[in-house]
Amino acid sequence: MHYRVIAPGALATVSLLLAVPAFAATYTPGAQGIGDPYYPAYGNGGYDVSHYDLRLRYQPVTDELEGTATLRARTTQDLSQFDLDFLLNVSEVRVNGVEAAFTTSGEHELVITPRTGLAKGTDITVVVRYRGIPSSKKAYGFTTWLHTADGAVAANEPESAWWWFPSNDHPLDKATYDVSVRVPEGTQAISNGRLRSTRSRGGWTTYHWRSDKPQATYLATLAVGKFDITTGKSESGIPIINAYSKNLGDRDAAARASVERTGEIADWLSGYFGPYPYNALGGYVPDVPTGFALETQTRPYYSPRQFASGPNPSVVVHELAHQWYGDDVSLKGWKDIWISEGFARYAQWLWSEHEGQGTTQELADKVYASHPADDAFWTVAPGDPGPDNQFDIAVYDRGALAIQALRNEIGDDAFFAVLKGWPQKHTYGNASVADFQQYAEKVSGKDLGPLFDTWLFEPAKPAGRAAARMSSLPAQPESWKQIEATNEVHKH
Ligand code: ARG
Ligand code: ZN
Repeated sequence: MHYRVIAPGALATVSLLLAVPAFAATYTPGAQGIGDPYYPAYGNGGYDVSHYDLRLRYQPVTDELEGTATLRARTTQDLSQFDLDFLLNVSEVRVNGVEAAFTTSGEHELVITPRTGLAKGTDITVVVRYRGIPSSKKAYGFTTWLHTADGAVAANEPESAWWWFPSNDHPLDKATYDVSVRVPEGTQAISNGRLRSTRSRGGWTTYHWRSDKPQATYLATLAVGKFDITTGKSESGIPIINAYSKNLGDRDAAARASVERTGEIADWLSGYFGPYPYNALGGYVPDVPTGFALETQTRPYYSPRQFASGPNPSVVVHELAHQWYGDDVSLKGWKDIWISEGFARYAQWLWSEHEGQGTTQELADKVYASHPADDAFWTVAPGDPGPDNQFDIAVYDRGALAIQALRNEIGDDAFFAVLKGWPQKHTYGNASVADFQQYAEKVSGKDLGPLFDTWLFEPAKPAGRAAARMSSLPAQPESWKQIEATNEVHKH
């Protein structure tokens, strides 16, 4: 749709005649991406979503998903057109109740043209009706939706939303969620937050979940399958819902011995990170062949492979640490991944020390010593690893090493003040590596530029002095094996 540009002087006289608002400038399409240099097409411009209401129906046998998504959003420019990121087949789109034209473009853009332009700063309601077989849809040659023996799982990073709901798919646009899923009776549907209701009718059961604190799109999760569900409450009073696939076999006991410690571990972490930011807790272990875990908000996703060689509370520590570092304080851009993964790994080191299985310094020494100077490990800069190395082991291990170096530089008092103050400073928001450096400098009163450069950005093994005491090769800390088990991150 084209809009006339009117010279400001002429505006007053012609605006009535043309029946355009007196402020009319040009209404233009929102950008196809939100502006992330790692992933230029991810997210979109021109609006900001505040809430997703997803009403879904899923058939495990055929992998058919059908749904209606209602988005509440506010425009951030005068919009003639805007995109959502989505892969399934859309049958109808309405904007503020009025049918809108739509088409697809690029790898995952749903392009929506409302009948009239949308002025900047207005609240809009977008309804999208859709259906499809998510496992049959690919973008960039891959699918992350997993069709399992008895259901499906949507859990991946950065890409998972495209296969099950239309969104502004980038952590910069956080929103609250209602997820209501109808599944055949006897099958369960798991998502984020609190379970509001469960209703059965005509052979189908509807699970209604609500996540009522800002949540990034990749942290929204859906799992359908035959689960055994356990409930409880942390000592601090947060309700817990865990779910274990009934097909876990010999990994079932180890999974439960780990995930059932969710309340205890979340309470323990709040001693370091401050109050838990949400009103629900839990974890789920679906029947999937892939190996990674993911910090899906309030209710992390754990692959059964994390428990293949026995109980692994360390991975629970990792994913729950993300609830503060990564979920509550989200990335501004994907290059800022260290403010998420570096700290989740460091939390595992703190847990190791707590369990008497090796101190954080011993684990740091171990990482430092186990990678010789010519190891490619040191060429990855955790502070800006590039999209191909976003989940490289260096982001985790070198990233945590950098945190130990910071601790040694500023001392325990300042360090633990930073660790606890950071989530509160940016709660429910977004931040960058640069923001973190600035904050640590403010709290410690030190210039940390050289330290951050050395440990997070230089493509070389740092000289040992800053991390200190890295003289002799340390003995293998007992917790090393468990931490290694959580390293299994997969590329698509
Ligand atoms: N944030 C996840 C974790 O550290 C990593 C997920 C990476 N996996 C992947 N398939 N991209 O637990
Ligand atoms: Zn992680």
